Amino acid sequence: MYRELFLQAQAVRDYAYAPYSKFRVGAALLTEEGVMYTGVNIENASYPVGLCAERAAFASAISQGEKKFKAIAICGDAEECWPCGMCRQFMYEFAPELVIVTGSDPDHLEIRDLTELLPEGFRLERTDI
Ligand code: THU
Repeated sequence: MYRELFLQAQAVRDYAYAPYSKFRVGAALLTEEGVMYTGVNIENASYPVGLCAERAAFASAISQGEKKFKAIAICGDAEECWPCGMCRQFMYEFAPELVIVTGSDPDHLEIRDLTELLPEGFRLERTDI
């Protein structure tokens, strides 16, 4: 299952818009019901405006009404591509138990839980959901 997810991340990596860093990233996010959403990094001439692939995938899924997530695979132009700190906190909001999958190819995957990558992430009590 994680293999398929990673293959999707690898396939969409070609759509990354990364003319500044030249570091392309693709992400594939799996919902609890088994639907997949993808995202790529989207850079900008004003560098801090750029968006990571992980947050692009979450934005796509949440825009379609998804709320429960199981795993995300990330494929960058490197052996492994662990999510940046900002993305870790972003994903923690929606899925503290999320499984993170990365690696150089589908046969060499590294798998961790988000809570391992972001222990004691920040949360606020929410009464509206
Ligand atoms: N990037 C991602 O999209 N995801 C990551 O997990 C790490 C970094 C992007 C941001 C930027 O466009 C490029 O990779 C180089 O930092």
